[in-house]
Amino acid sequence: MSQFTDAEKEAMKEEAGIAACTFVESGMKIGIGTGSTVKYTILELGRRIREEGLEIAGIPTSDATEKLSIEQGIPMLDWGGCDQLDLVIDGADEFDCDLHLIKGGGGALLREKIVAESSGGMVVVADASKRVEVLGAFPLPIEVNPYGWEQTKRRIESICAGPVLLRGTNYFTDNGNPILDAHFGATIADPVQLESDLRAIAGVVEVGLFTNTADIIVLAAQGGCEMIRKPTARL
Ligand code: 5RP
Repeated sequence: MSQFTDAEKEAMKEEAGIAACTFVESGMKIGIGTGSTVKYTILELGRRIREEGLEIAGIPTSDATEKLSIEQGIPMLDWGGCDQLDLVIDGADEFDCDLHLIKGGGGALLREKIVAESSGGMVVVADASKRVEVLGAFPLPIEVNPYGWEQTKRRIESICAGPVLLRGTNYFTDNGNPILDAHFGATIADPVQLESDLRAIAGVVEVGLFTNTADIIVLAAQGGCEMIRKPTARL
C-alpha cells in the first residue's frame, strides 16, 4: 500500500467497507467489527437503514463502534437477548492464504473474538497491505489480566523470539486490560498451535490470532474489490 497516497488508501478502505455490506440482508443479526475500514461498513449500513429500509440489529465489538453504530441508527443488541449472530464484518491487521488472521491493532480483540465465535460467518474487510505469506510481521496483540502482567509477559517472552512490549502504561482495552504486543516477526508458521499455546498461559485473556474463523476476505484494490473465499466458507 506504500505506493498509494493517503487519499487512495482511504478510497480503497471505503470500497471494501461498502462491498462487505452485500452480505447483509433484512432480518439479520450482525456483529460489527472495529477499525478504520469497518467504519465505512457502519456508514453504509446506516445509509441502507435510512434510505432502503434495511432492518437489522447488531452487536458492536468496541465502545467506538457502538457509538458510531448508534449515531448511524443501527439498533443495538446485547448478549442478554441474543445467543447467535448471522455474520460478523470485521477488519484485520494481517491475513494469510488460509485466511488465518492477526487482529487487535485497535485493541478490540477480546470482544471481536467473542463476536466472531458467535457468528454464522465472518467477512473480513482489508486492503492489499494486510495480505502476507507468513503471519507475524505485525506485532501480535495479546490482551492480559492486569494482575501479574509482568509475569505473564515473561512467560510469553519464553515462546516469542522478539520483544514483547506493553502497549503504553496508560493503554487499557474497553475491558480494562493491558495489551502486550509480541514481536514474532514473519515466523508464525503454525498459527493454530501458537494460538493454543498462548491461550494456555494463565493471565492471557485473549490472543489476536483468529484461526479458522474468517470465511471471506473483501480485499480492496484500486478499481474494485476481490473476494477471497475459503473453500469451506459458510457464506
Ligand atoms: C481492531 C482490529 C481491526 O479490525 C484491525 O486493527 C484493522 O483495522 P483497520 O481497518 O483500521 O486497519 O482488529 O482490534
